[in-house]
Amino acid sequence: MSNNNIQIFDTTLRDGEQVPGCKLNSEQKVVIAEQLDTLGVDVIEAGFPVSSPGDFKSVEAISKIVKNATVCGLTRAVENDIKVAAESLRFANKPRIHTGIGTSESHILHKFKSNRDAIIERAFEAVKYAKSFVEDVEFYAEDAGRTDNEYLARVCEAAIKAGATVLNIPDTTGYCLPSEYGAKIKYLKENVKGIEKAILSCHCHNDLGLATANSIEGVINGARQIECTINGIGERAGNTALEEVVMVLKQHPYLNLDTNINTSMLYGMSQLVSDSMGIYTQPNKAIVGANAFAHSSGIHQDGVIKNRATYEIIDPKDVGVTESAIVLTARSGRAALAYRAKNVGYELTKLQLDDVYANFLSFADRKKEINDNDIHQIIETSNVYQ
Ligand code: KIV
Ligand code: ZN
Repeated sequence: MSNNNIQIFDTTLRDGEQVPGCKLNSEQKVVIAEQLDTLGVDVIEAGFPVSSPGDFKSVEAISKIVKNATVCGLTRAVENDIKVAAESLRFANKPRIHTGIGTSESHILHKFKSNRDAIIERAFEAVKYAKSFVEDVEFYAEDAGRTDNEYLARVCEAAIKAGATVLNIPDTTGYCLPSEYGAKIKYLKENVKGIEKAILSCHCHNDLGLATANSIEGVINGARQIECTINGIGERAGNTALEEVVMVLKQHPYLNLDTNINTSMLYGMSQLVSDSMGIYTQPNKAIVGANAFAHSSGIHQDGVIKNRATYEIIDPKDVGVTESAIVLTARSGRAALAYRAKNVGYELTKLQLDDVYANFLSFADRKKEINDNDIHQIIETSNVYQ
């Protein structure tokens, strides 16, 4: 792994599956995990094994079939959680235990009714115990986004001392600004003793719509892993969207940060997760939404027909979408109509096009979107064709 390679840690099957109303059965999880492995993710967080016998079974089944990726199980800083996770991961080629504890004032005082030193002690003991089962242990400092940097650095140092290989810095509540989250990562990189023994990981939530921006700021400032989900699904407003961070890095090569993701699988992966979970993807969703490569206004259509790059920064084929769509509506112009007419077999002269276009507009004012059948009808009923 080069120092500029960003590890993609997919948590669709754990944090993503925490979406209200969504439930995947073990078979569906195995299918998704197999596809994630082929997609090229580096880590698959397969579940929270102690949470239910079903989740334990899923993590175990995924551990057996995943060939390349590390398989990870989540735990609290609780001995039994860690023991159960280790057992569920026993068949994995590359097992990882992901353990941790809340570190913000609100977690320490209200959730744990504890104090700062006692939390550090629990973090240390949890990592040390996890380390007795597996070599690869990731530590999370829950609500790190609202934890003061000095204390967070002390927690991270304790986790490294106990043997953590990855330090996860979650913005659990999606509160941070990109500049703030980037500065936090930079601070830890520069101030945590022993940081060279571990990598920093970004785990951002999308409550303010900043999860992607925060994760990108995190890796620009030295983190080397991004935790994310397909379609950005997850609790509340969701997690960082895998397809977004991967394409941001790909489309900005001067950042000199790459991933191992086969981007041409992104659209198919999005469809698989959305169909399996029964969670509809919003049409304007970046990268994988139905309208991500659709052009409907006349000015844009004219530009795209002349040269795709006028209004597209991504080649749709790069993410597995066959081609851009020129959608015909009452806002479309002659160029789009001629283009779509040609696709269904009509070469219109300029004169014919003027006449067909007038017919098209009156049709399009009545119907939201014009399909191929409508085009035939519009042309055949135009004066020039009678
Ligand atoms: O958002 C979060 O803090 C988490 C941790 C449990 C890793 O999902
Ligand atoms: Zn989370």
